Amino acid sequence: MGFSQTLDRFYNRHWSGKRAKRLAQILADHLPPCTTLLDAGCGKGDLAFHLSLCAPHTAISACDTVDRFQYKNHLNFVHQTQNDRLPFADNSFDVVTLNFVLHHTDDYLPLLAEAKRVSRRHVVIMDHTHHNIVEYLILCAIDIPGNIPAGIYTPFNYKTPAQWTDIFAKAALAVRSFQKGICWMPAFLKPIFVRKMHFVAVLEK
Ligand SMILES: C[S@@+](CC[C@H](N)C(=O)[O-])C[C@H]1O[C@@H](n2cnc3c(N)ncnc32)[C@H](O)[C@@H]1O
Repeated sequence: MGFSQTLDRFYNRHWSGKRAKRLAQILADHLPPCTTLLDAGCGKGDLAFHLSLCAPHTAISACDTVDRFQYKNHLNFVHQTQNDRLPFADNSFDVVTLNFVLHHTDDYLPLLAEAKRVSRRHVVIMDHTHHNIVEYLILCAIDIPGNIPAGIYTPFNYKTPAQWTDIFAKAALAVRSFQKGICWMPAFLKPIFVRKMHFVAVLEK
């Protein structure tokens, strides 16, 4: 087995489930009241699945350009065939979430505009941010194990808080909250890998 496969197996066995469970709780704590939610760029679906356990009264759908969703018996999954076109009509969901998706695109605005289009009111984003080159490099290191071995396009396209603010303004989305410092890692990793580099933002049309 090659290094890449070993890393992928290690990540899936020891990390991704715990990460999804913790992040789902953080997301649930920040969600505006909603009965329908789309998790766009859901990946394998661990986060969407755990979110459905934390928010049992919300009907959760999921989509991704890659069809590797593992919860088709539990949640509605739609395979997205175009990068910048979510396969849903305008205003289909109360909330659309983009969790650690935008930094896997070269230009955030087209996908953010799509999230806004299919949402009736809110777009909720969990993603990375950095304040200096050291944090940028730490984010690169965090992104490699979960993405490169799985073949996910990873351009290391992280934004500073000011750049995020500018992107939200260009998308004409009002920022209702922007909380940095969310943490899904064990406490001993927090000083190095968490700092203020992960956030959850609630945006409104
Ligand atoms: C790091 S994974 C995050 C998966 C999941 N949201 C999570 O946090 O566990 C990034 C995902 O974004 C998806 N993605 C990238 N560009 C996308 C696009 N334009 N539209 C939809 N999904 C996209 C990738 O296929 C990948 O599954």
